[in-house]
Amino acid sequence: MTLILSAGAAAIAQAAATLRDGGLVAFPTETVYGLGADATQAWAVARIYDAKDRPSFNPLIAHVADLEAARREALLPQTALDLAHAFWPGPLTIVAPAAPEGSVCELARAGLPSVALRVPAHPVAHALIAALGRPIAAPSANRSGHVSPVTAAHVADDLSGKVDLILDGGRAPGGLESTIVSFCEASPVLLRPGALAREAIEKILGEKLTAPARAEILAPGMSAAHYAPAARLRLEAHEVVEGEAALDFGGRLTARAEPGVFALDLSPSGDLVEAAANLFAYLREFDARGIENVAVAHIPERGLGEAINDRLRRASAPRLD
Ligand code: TXA
Ligand code: MG
Repeated sequence: MTLILSAGAAAIAQAAATLRDGGLVAFPTETVYGLGADATQAWAVARIYDAKDRPSFNPLIAHVADLEAARREALLPQTALDLAHAFWPGPLTIVAPAAPEGSVCELARAGLPSVALRVPAHPVAHALIAALGRPIAAPSANRSGHVSPVTAAHVADDLSGKVDLILDGGRAPGGLESTIVSFCEASPVLLRPGALAREAIEKILGEKLTAPARAEILAPGMSAAHYAPAARLRLEAHEVVEGEAALDFGGRLTARAEPGVFALDLSPSGDLVEAAANLFAYLREFDARGIENVAVAHIPERGLGEAINDRLRRASAPRLD
């Protein structure tokens, strides 16, 4: 059931409680409406990908209260701080290496070592982040492949039944998404042109923005070194062989494994949203235990299964280095 509430103080408090409980809330920003989840809860973030029907885990923008909150999440070079001082709050998203102690979950970052941060200027967005007291992960609140919504009604058209609450704050004044600048290379890269003009950014930086590499245009955020586990993954396994650990789904592999085999089950009940929420943490767990070989159960290629299989295929691809 999707509740649509006019964005007053009581509705914002209710929305923050919904986020804290792992729910999804659509809210207005000065650019477009966002589909938000508590960025620190992988399970909640998995529901975003499910609601949007995203074919892969595209990394999400974490919306934070202010520059101080942003600095807890990312290692911002001086040039990024200059832009933040000039344009936050506002329609600028900064991508930078994630801080080791950052709170934005790995699923929101799609397993990347970087994080995208933005301090929105819209009063409703700002009040919601303040009420939650944590970053809000939010892509535009449309189905994958549809245009970004600028009214609560647009959001309801695309996501009714998939989002718990829509905060109606009237028309989003901008209509164009934020400009995304990455500080992960030697010089700043314009990943996405948007509501903030390139010229204004270059004026503050005192240098030209570089164009992204071709791969970054084809699959934004996916070309950078995604998290590749040290362990070798054997996909579509029907049994666990000697020397392997197991990454199970729905208990299939574990049921057939020798006793004593180390196994993690992405979702014992076969729930793809739960599986997505556990994926990155479990891959890291194998590495933390020094496990070298992992048999991975078949994951159905429906719903979030498509994105999970996409990540597993990347993680199991032969290394070039
Ligand atoms: O105006 C906006 O930016 C809106 C409002 C809701 O804030 N949000 C928005 O989000 O447009 P979305 O998910 O539709 O687009 C975010 C873009 C994606 O293309 C994603 O690939 C890129 O940001 N992105 C996020 N994190 C990234 C990262 N670590 N590296 C590279 N690209 C990243
Ligand atoms: Mg979008």
